[in-house]
Amino acid sequence: MDFSNKLVNWYQVNKRDLPWRNTANAYYIWLSEIILQQTRVAQGMPYYLAFVKVFPKVEDLANASEDEVLKMWQGLGYYSRARNLHFTAKDIANNYDGMFPEDHKKILALKGVGAYTAAAIASFAFGMPYAVVDGNVIRVLSRIFGVDTPFDSTLGKKQFAELAQELLIKDNPSEYNQAIMEFGAMQCKPKSPDCSVCPMQDFCEAYNKNIIAELPVKSKKIKVKNRYLHFLMIEQEEHVYLGKRKKGIWTGLYEFPFLEFDYKISENNVIESEEWISIFNGAKVEIISVSTEFIHVLSHQKIHAHFWKIKTQNVQLNNFDFIEVKDLLSYPVSRLTEKYFETIELI
Ligand code: ADE
Repeated sequence: MDFSNKLVNWYQVNKRDLPWRNTANAYYIWLSEIILQQTRVAQGMPYYLAFVKVFPKVEDLANASEDEVLKMWQGLGYYSRARNLHFTAKDIANNYDGMFPEDHKKILALKGVGAYTAAAIASFAFGMPYAVVDGNVIRVLSRIFGVDTPFDSTLGKKQFAELAQELLIKDNPSEYNQAIMEFGAMQCKPKSPDCSVCPMQDFCEAYNKNIIAELPVKSKKIKVKNRYLHFLMIEQEEHVYLGKRKKGIWTGLYEFPFLEFDYKISENNVIESEEWISIFNGAKVEIISVSTEFIHVLSHQKIHAHFWKIKTQNVQLNNFDFIEVKDLLSYPVSRLTEKYFETIELI
């Protein structure tokens, strides 16, 4: 039996029962795929169930406010996914009569939908023959067929896309696509896969040459930038300053004002920095506490955050809202800020 049929046989025995696999509703499939980008199934599941419950139709999501969508997304990270999700829900509701287009090009043109997600929607919802290529698929193909071209190079992208498309079972693309991703997630795992029970053992190049750990190959090392952020929770008469971010990874989320440095800095040096002086402008400042370091690792940056709890009088920050402390938890904030809230008494 060939690779593709073996794969589907393996899937039929080993697959997990996941809610987005029991539907052909393109809206639910799209939702699940956006949630599952950069997110594990176990972490994404409660979010998927909550979105389907609160927004059973794409129009419900379209009619929600951005704050509501971001609040529900809170904790999942990579918030541009949530903003694009909301944008595309409005696009589908307003320009497509609430129905996802049954056309690969039109699906691919939707905001936040790349090659992987378009192939997933086209195949899972409409049975169209487009092979998915994600990290799982790349790992499986590189090992079984011994492909050592860097997957992030132009040539590698082309080779993996062509191989995936060749192997696709054209009369059941949905099941085949689910199968290869599931095989990557459950059997052909990144670290120490259990090859002794693998049905592909006989013809897996990486297994037979004993190079499993070396595949797949990546060419570029991502340079990670360290950022040192000092968030200021400035309390005045049971109010604090909070602002809606307009750029960067937290666009649309509410955050405390913060001071940013690209090096580790002592508390004294924070207080003596020009930024600090320009915020407080000589006002009397009582520092209640400075948190321990919270670390947040993203693909291109490592954020080191401290939260300062400060009491003052007569400090005015023009670009921030002045909100009641008791309302703080109703605003969408980053996972980092949420973690800080879990460590303090707010009221
Ligand atoms: N990860 C991304 N898409 C998935 C899917 N459809 N099923 C399981 N895991 C996934």
